[in-house]
Amino acid sequence: NVPKAINEQVKSYAPASKEREQVIAAFKEMYNSSTIDVPNYIGAEEVRTGKTQNITPPFNHKKVVGTYHEAEKQHIEQAISTALDARKNWAALNWEHRTAIFLKAADLIAGPYRAKINAATMIGQAKTVHQAEIDSACELIDFLRFNAEFMQQIYSEQPISSEGIWNRLEYRPLEGFVYAITPFNFTAIAGNLPAAPALMGNVVVWKPSASQVYSAQVIMEVFKLAGLPAGVINMVHGDPVMISDVLISSPDFAGLHFTGSTHVFKDLWAKIGQNINKYKTYPRIVGETGGKDFVLAHPTAIPAQVATALSRGAFEFQGQKCSAASRAYIPKSIWPQVKDLLIKDIESFKMGSPEDMGNFVSAVIHEGSFDKLAKYIDAAKSAKDAEIIVGGGYDKSVGWFIEPTVIETTNPHYETMETELFGPVLTVYVYDDAKWTETLELIDGTSPYALTGAIFSGDRYAIEEATKALENCAGNFYINDKPTGAVVGQQPFGGARASGTNDKAGSILNLYRWVSPRTIKETF
Ligand code: ALA
Repeated sequence: NVPKAINEQVKSYAPASKEREQVIAAFKEMYNSSTIDVPNYIGAEEVRTGKTQNITPPFNHKKVVGTYHEAEKQHIEQAISTALDARKNWAALNWEHRTAIFLKAADLIAGPYRAKINAATMIGQAKTVHQAEIDSACELIDFLRFNAEFMQQIYSEQPISSEGIWNRLEYRPLEGFVYAITPFNFTAIAGNLPAAPALMGNVVVWKPSASQVYSAQVIMEVFKLAGLPAGVINMVHGDPVMISDVLISSPDFAGLHFTGSTHVFKDLWAKIGQNINKYKTYPRIVGETGGKDFVLAHPTAIPAQVATALSRGAFEFQGQKCSAASRAYIPKSIWPQVKDLLIKDIESFKMGSPEDMGNFVSAVIHEGSFDKLAKYIDAAKSAKDAEIIVGGGYDKSVGWFIEPTVIETTNPHYETMETELFGPVLTVYVYDDAKWTETLELIDGTSPYALTGAIFSGDRYAIEEATKALENCAGNFYINDKPTGAVVGQQPFGGARASGTNDKAGSILNLYRWVSPRTIKETF
């Protein structure tokens, strides 16, 4: 049996603690080096094309900490052939050896690489140390360890046999390569999307987000040190459309493991459809996309609980979690208390560089995101049916800083109740207590997404009613808790509708997608 997976304990980074000293030292070293140079990893080769882009911390965008190299078409073709070459040995390698590599990678992150991967996430993606710790350390470690256990459960799932007949299932990898596309907002997702198919014996071409190349490089370093053979996971950067065109038009394209925006996922799906006659096998398409995640309070909810869920759920990591609370439905009777507590909490948040551990929030990821958020904030400032009750400021002179902002609206269909913003903006609609049932219908009908949602109530009947009425609105539904922070092995994560294929990262369901089982019947 593989070692029993236990969730990695979150370190506190208390003042004067060893882990705080280590992460600060790693942060300073990386931040001040300016020599970081992220290549494409194609097989054993580190390909530096000379076509470089700067890596700049979102909280200090004039500072260049390094560069990454963009691949050209021939490098993507080279990545495919390198992956397919590596597949011959990798797919045949006994599962214990594949597993040992990823378990070792988890141990490296838990130990000697913890400070480095957290510091890279703090600098490259502007996460506070706590947000980096729960992501690039704990969640990534959990994915790697729990996947090994899920894999073993899958392999042991065997059909019935009878006298003279032995039936068995052989869990083979997909015939071809898997294309992993990963987002900036979770280093753990970036690591898991290539690692999960690779653990099941697949080879992967991985394109990380251009805003996450820094911690992606640390992941590659860890995988290599853990003994991952060259060519099993290949990492490329560059024009995403070109990269997808080359990979998806290959006859050996066998799967897409995607986390990112809804429209990109739909475009890729359409592209896969256009190429369908080229493939040897129907590709597996696994995607987690957008969200417009809600918090609903019933009149029986405890105001302090709701306020905390909103301030944490909407503003941790600047609201850039796909699970972040971005629309709230609060009854009139408790709104004055919730509002008061929410404003007080938000006004206590400090904003700035993650190096200062007193900061609760930092900058949003890039200028495009900053400009989009500023536009919606400005619109709210002059809207007749909306009012900014806290925040509303922004400043891009040093970093892409947007103040945590709450918009209160009298219009349940106000633009920011419906549009995914992916930033620190929460919109609250205050409903009439007597309109509870209508509010449930409103939530169901307002957004095409169905990722996360939360209900706060002390009334079991209300909780049951909401759970049923909102059954298609959230793949992850929380009762009396914020809608973020799913833990691997505890709350399998993913949504349906426009939010994705709901293949539940951090569960056995995801791993099943990366095998193509063969049934063997043998008669004696
Ligand atoms: N798994 C992440 C969360 O639940 C997205 O917040």
